[in-house]
Amino acid sequence: MSDKATLQYNGNSYDFPVIKGTENELAIDIKKLRASTGMITIDPGYKNTGSCESGITFLDGEKGILRYRGYSIEDLAEKADFLETAYLLIFGELPTEEQLSKFDQDIKEQSHVDEDVKKILDGFPKSAHPMGVLSSLTSALIAFNPAFVNVSSEEEMYNAIVRILAKFPVLVSWALRKNKGLPLDYGDNSLGYVENIVKMMFRRPNQEYQKNQIVIDALDKLLILHADHEQNCSTSTVRIVGSSHAGLFASLSAGISALWGPLHGGANQAVLEMLEAIEADGGDTKKYMAKAKDKNDPFRLMGFGHRVYKNFDPRARIIKKAADEVLNDLGVVDPILDIAKGLEKEALEDQYFVDRKLYPNVDFYSGIIYRAMGIPTEMFTVMFALGRLPGWIAQWREMRLNNEPIGRPRQVYTGANLRPFVDLGNR
Ligand code: CMC
Repeated sequence: MSDKATLQYNGNSYDFPVIKGTENELAIDIKKLRASTGMITIDPGYKNTGSCESGITFLDGEKGILRYRGYSIEDLAEKADFLETAYLLIFGELPTEEQLSKFDQDIKEQSHVDEDVKKILDGFPKSAHPMGVLSSLTSALIAFNPAFVNVSSEEEMYNAIVRILAKFPVLVSWALRKNKGLPLDYGDNSLGYVENIVKMMFRRPNQEYQKNQIVIDALDKLLILHADHEQNCSTSTVRIVGSSHAGLFASLSAGISALWGPLHGGANQAVLEMLEAIEADGGDTKKYMAKAKDKNDPFRLMGFGHRVYKNFDPRARIIKKAADEVLNDLGVVDPILDIAKGLEKEALEDQYFVDRKLYPNVDFYSGIIYRAMGIPTEMFTVMFALGRLPGWIAQWREMRLNNEPIGRPRQVYTGANLRPFVDLGNR
């Protein structure tokens, strides 16, 4: 096989190196394209564009494979916990017992958030969407931790990473508690990372916190499944913002905003809202299937389809099983779930969905579990952000350590040609 690709244009021929990833993915290296041909490529939505070489996550959308640092998502969801997975993603190897215990301890030591951050939170209306609150508070953390992080110092990098992993769950719980009108709470450092999150979110001021292992285990698994997904919209945002050498917290805040959209992380909230709307409209799933297929109707079946998975979403398979277990264990009976199951069955058998390879994605099931756990719908995307945090950090770290250039795509201009200025009175 040739290790170069040849482009022919206007009687000229140009060679470009072909590079191969460790899983044999091929890419044409066009770094010198513009310099040698004067042309650029155009690829809206970057469907054919690799923005970087990365050693963090491998996914094969055709085969339904997802691996973090070489470990299968199935193994990690079954055998690892979220903190171990975070360490693996960020630092490249599974931690030893000693490394994990130090990591956990270091995070605990940073798990306070400045009391003044509460004043910022006070400024938000109670109705504010928690994703907006989370993005703003993450950005505000910069003001409380203004030190410039020297990325060539492993220690400074480690400290910044530990700091955000420690403070982010507090912000998440505050976003929820603000929304629910509950007093703001600090964590309990005697607990594990995920249990502490659950307690911070659900603890009532006037009653003893009741530990629910089913909820803790399910959340741990969900966070692992969401922890990274290579160069998706929010991760690419984190990398591109960080490529201007904006700091970690600023890059993460931008990533949170990108995740908020209903075509990305916001889909889990959109799924539940869609199911509720179908229920309110009499529960006729066939009517909504028809709407989803009607090209004159903007309605899409939320929670179906994926940019990369064109076979099945491996996370969805794990999460579907977890959803069944959680609902069973918690004894949840919910008409919304019947609608979800009906839609899933119809879509999997429908030619339109089969032809376009539209399968239920991770967000179709995650919303269902979150609902069963008692997490309010508008918090679903925040839970996604909590899970994605280690992935964003890992990708930011890799990008900075590789000293990647500032992200700056080009364009093909299609606007007006030079024209004379027309004075206001003559327009
Ligand atoms: N319902 C109905 N039709 C759909 C859907 C859907 N959910 N998704 C794609 N299609 C159709 C689309 O209309 C198009 O049809 P045609 O070829 O006839 O024009 C075809 O399938 C291909 O769609 P596309 O928009 O070109 O595909 P894409 O890869 O650009 O978009 C997607 C992927 C996830 C944005 C899209 O499938 C979608 O909008 N899904 C619903 C939102 C959703 O669940 N998002 C969560 C994604 S998973 C979580 C994450 O990683 O963020």
